[in-house]
Amino acid sequence: MAGNNLIEYLLVFGGKGGVGKSSISSATAVKVSDLLPNKKILLISFDIAHNLTDLFGINIGNNITPIKDNLWAIEPDPHIYAEKYTKEFAEKSRKLMKMTPIVNLIPKLEEYIDNTFNADSIPVALKNAIFFQQILDAEDTTQNLQFDIIICDFPPTANMVALFEIPEDHVKGIMKYSLRIISEIRKAMQKFTKAAKFLFPFGKSSEERKGLAEELLEMLNEIEERGERIADLIKNYGSLRLVSIAEKPSYEEIKRAYELTQKYINTDGIHINMLIPEDAADHCNFCKNKHQKQQKYIKQIEQEFKNLKIWKSNSLGIEPIGLDGLRTLADEIYSSIDDVNDILNPLKKSK
Ligand SMILES: Nc1ncnc2c1ncn2[C@@H]1O[C@H](COP(=O)(O)OP(=O)(O)OP(=O)(O)O)[C@@H](O)[C@H]1O
Ligand SMILES: [Mg+2]
Repeated sequence: MAGNNLIEYLLVFGGKGGVGKSSISSATAVKVSDLLPNKKILLISFDIAHNLTDLFGINIGNNITPIKDNLWAIEPDPHIYAEKYTKEFAEKSRKLMKMTPIVNLIPKLEEYIDNTFNADSIPVALKNAIFFQQILDAEDTTQNLQFDIIICDFPPTANMVALFEIPEDHVKGIMKYSLRIISEIRKAMQKFTKAAKFLFPFGKSSEERKGLAEELLEMLNEIEERGERIADLIKNYGSLRLVSIAEKPSYEEIKRAYELTQKYINTDGIHINMLIPEDAADHCNFCKNKHQKQQKYIKQIEQEFKNLKIWKSNSLGIEPIGLDGLRTLADEIYSSIDDVNDILNPLKKSK
C-alpha cells in the first residue's frame, strides 16, 4: 500500500433527496477542473442510485472514466470491492483449515467463514472505505492516477450518515471473533505440531500454516486500518456542503444532517438551490408567492448557519446537464467567485 495520500481537498455534497446534490457536485467538479487545469479531479457518486452517467451523458459505471482532460468520474459498486476482499480472506481461511489437523475446530471455522465474514457482513461505510482507500492510494495500477481533489456526491441524509459511520463495535466484533478463532487454531496447532508431524509426516509444514495464519491476521488488521485511515482523512481533509431548497422539510433536514455528521466531517457551506429569480417574481403571482416564502427560509438558513459560507443559486431555465449545462449551473452558483480557493476553502481555514 502506498499510504502517501497527497489529496488536497475532499468536498462532499449532502442534503435531502432531489434538492440538487448531484447537479451541484458535478457543476462544482467541472468548475474546479476548469479553474485548475494542472490538478487532477475525481468525482465520485456514493449514492447507489447513481446518476452521473445521465448528468454527463457519458457511460461511467464502476470504472474511473475520463470526462475531460483533468476530470474523471466513477460510480463505484462498493460491494465488488468488499467481495474481492472477503473472497481472498475466505480462500486463505479454507486453506488454513485444510492444513489443520485439529478436526473439532473445523465446523466452527467453516461456519464462521460462511456466515460471518462475507461481503454482506461488512458495513457500507467500511465497504466504501475499502474502495476509497484504493482510490486514494492509487492502488489501481492500470490507471496510474493520483488525484488532487476529490468531489463526492452523497445520498440523502440517512444513507449519508451510514456512509460516515463505520460501526466500530461491528468491525471490532468481527475482528475479535476472527482473531480468537485464529489464535485458537494457532494454539491448538502448536500443541499438536509434534503429534501432527508424527501423524502427518507428509502434510504441510507448520511453517506454512503459521504463514497463512499470519496473512489472515494481517488482512484483518489492514481492513480495520483502512477504516480508521479513511475516517481520519475525512475528518482532516473533508469539507461537507449541505444542499437545500428554501422550504421547511429540506431546511429541517440540513439541520439534522449538520448535527449527525458533525463528529465525522466539518461542514463548510450551505447551498440554497432552485430559487425563484427576482425578475420572474415580478411577472407572475405564483412566482411572487413562492419567492416570498423562499425569502423567509433563506433568512432562517442564513441565521442558523451564520458561521458557514452560503451559496445561493436560482432555478435555471435550462436543464443543467452535459458539460455546458453544468458550466451554466456552476456560473449561477459561483457567480461572485473569482478565486478557486473560495470554492475549495470558503472559510479560509488553515490546514
Ligand atoms: N438550479 C437548478 N436549476 C434547474 N434545475 C435544477 C437545478 N438544480 C437541480 N436541478 C434539476 O433538479 C433535478 C434534481 O437534481 P439532482 O438530481 O441534482 O438532485 P439530487 O439531490 O442529487 O437528487 P437525489 O436525491 O435523487 O440524488 C434534476 O432534474 C436537475 O437537473
Ligand atoms: Mg443525486
